[in-house]
Amino acid sequence: MRITAFNGSPRGKGSNTGVMVSEFLAGAAAAGAEAEQVFLSERKIAHCMGCFKCWTATPGKCVINDDMKDLLQKVMSSDLIILATPLYIDDVTGIMKDFMDRLIPLMDPHFESDNSGEWRHAKRFSSYPDIAVISNCGMPGRQHFQVLKLHFRRMARNFHSKVTAEIYLDCGELLKNQVLILKPVIAKYRKSLRKAGEELAKDGIISAKTAVKLEKPLISAAMYIKEANKYWDRELS
Ligand SMILES: Cc1cc2nc3c(=O)[nH]c(=O)nc-3n(C[C@H](O)[C@H](O)[C@H](O)COP(=O)(O)O)c2cc1C
Repeated sequence: MRITAFNGSPRGKGSNTGVMVSEFLAGAAAAGAEAEQVFLSERKIAHCMGCFKCWTATPGKCVINDDMKDLLQKVMSSDLIILATPLYIDDVTGIMKDFMDRLIPLMDPHFESDNSGEWRHAKRFSSYPDIAVISNCGMPGRQHFQVLKLHFRRMARNFHSKVTAEIYLDCGELLKNQVLILKPVIAKYRKSLRKAGEELAKDGIISAKTAVKLEKPLISAAMYIKEANKYWDRELS
């Protein structure tokens, strides 16, 4: 199984998203998957110009000459793609959105209806990779991911694909925290991420047991807010 993770954090290799993806892919690789993390912030990805030339003049090929040529190949040669992004204003980062917009050469322009009678563009290829989502956000509470979650589901519908796994972490800034008391909590969470990667590569799904572990808050919201506000006070003084 070939898994390619596209990390849309502007922080690239230093991102919390990167920590999550690296652990997940380590587990997947241990289960025999061929796994790669692509840092989109290191790639040249222009905005889509909306010219639709990839549907008319050069079907399947974008006229912009940048790194998307290589990245589209990576998408289509994967069995599973991981769309990994920190939460920015309740949704994906701008880098991730540019990447998603530039996937449209993979579609055929003709309209067709799906099984529920909703419209979408037709397939250009016989099949598309499944999608897994990995995201973290700065605030406490998983409800912050509701827009992002819906966004990826709708995107998967448009792309004739399906979301097969989702991992969302709130209080994500704790991931690289060096406070002694948090170390065992973070280590446990990282272990669950590896297990999730292993399960997805082996069985095609994350087990309910692992999903429950990944859902557990790292610390209480009250404690997080108290420490976070102290941090901002220190930064401002
Ligand atoms: C422009 C911007 C917008 C953000 N919007 C949100 C948000 O809507 N909700 C939230 O909980 N955190 C938000 N955050 C916080 C990030 O999600 C958080 O810092 C995250 O841990 C960054 O992950 P990364 O290291 O993978 O980039 C935002 C951060 C930035 C810079």
